[in-house]
Amino acid sequence: MRALTVLPGTASSAAVTDIDEPPETDGSVLVETLAIGVCGTDLEICRGDYGTAPPGSDRLVIGHESLGRVMEAPAGAGLVAGDLVVGIVRRPDPVPCRHCAIGEWDMCRNGRYTERGIKDAHGYASERYRIDPSFAVKVDAKLGDLGVLLEPTSVVAKAWDHIERIGARSPAWVPERILICGAGPIGLLAALLGVQRGHDVHVVDLATDGPKPSLVADLGATYHADPVGKVTGTADVIIECTGVPQVVVDVLGHSATDAIVCLTGVSSGGRTIPFDAGEVNRDMVLGNDVVFGSVNANRRHYEAGAAALAIADPAWLARLITRRAPLEQFADVLERRPDDVKTVITIGS
Ligand code: BGC
Repeated sequence: MRALTVLPGTASSAAVTDIDEPPETDGSVLVETLAIGVCGTDLEICRGDYGTAPPGSDRLVIGHESLGRVMEAPAGAGLVAGDLVVGIVRRPDPVPCRHCAIGEWDMCRNGRYTERGIKDAHGYASERYRIDPSFAVKVDAKLGDLGVLLEPTSVVAKAWDHIERIGARSPAWVPERILICGAGPIGLLAALLGVQRGHDVHVVDLATDGPKPSLVADLGATYHADPVGKVTGTADVIIECTGVPQVVVDVLGHSATDAIVCLTGVSSGGRTIPFDAGEVNRDMVLGNDVVFGSVNANRRHYEAGAAALAIADPAWLARLITRRAPLEQFADVLERRPDDVKTVITIGS
């Protein structure tokens, strides 16, 4: 069958290659892949900067944002042929650490977890894949191919889950004003979940035209094409989704009293910028500020994400997918154009 594979560590090695049918040892549920979302991590993998193949394999099947249709599932799997499913990305480490042992693999302590399509495990960008039912999450059939947005939604569902757990440190915590940095897919989905919670959501991004300002406005949130420092001052929660070092520093330097700052953007190191650690420390201590990082998601977060997508306006969600291309033309959607939000590779029909 056809699959989109790379030689990890080698730039521009992405190619459609022929691979074996998925082995039964991968799981009892056989899934026909319909769509694969492309994110910054995939671009890094394709540049050769990230990603590792499974032991015994030179190439890695990429694709961690997926949507598929169940072809076969055993009785008792909770799934039947025809169901739309999304495969969870991370698998627990083999030890397992105390988080992985209870299904909280997104908090793995020893780094020996695997991630399908990213780290030591093949992804979902093949015509078919197999999966254990405990790692397949059913999505509302009404969503159709918008179900491919579930993996990035699970990432922001986790961020919100942890923000709310931290907020609960004070029984009087009421997150009134939310600031999201970056109006890419993660920022927009984080804004969606904030609006669904009834918050006053603000999104800051550089774009002054294209789809982003109206996507934010149509959500009922407020768009700012301003420097971050101008809009951070009164936010109770800041979700940083750009990973841009200067934006991160600006956010840390301008957070309000009692603010919770959640960092979700994975940046590459190697460039240094000025940062007044003493001043930021003093403001954080005197303001009871919390800054934390958030990555990945466990099954609870996928289920929360699926519930959030099911009640979202499908016409708004549809505008997040700005371009699609069939597997053979994957290169078209691996390239970012200025008006892109989320691009998608289509595989089956
Ligand atoms: C994925 C996460 C993953 C992270 C680090 C992100 O793009 O959405 O599931 O944990 O990359 O590999």
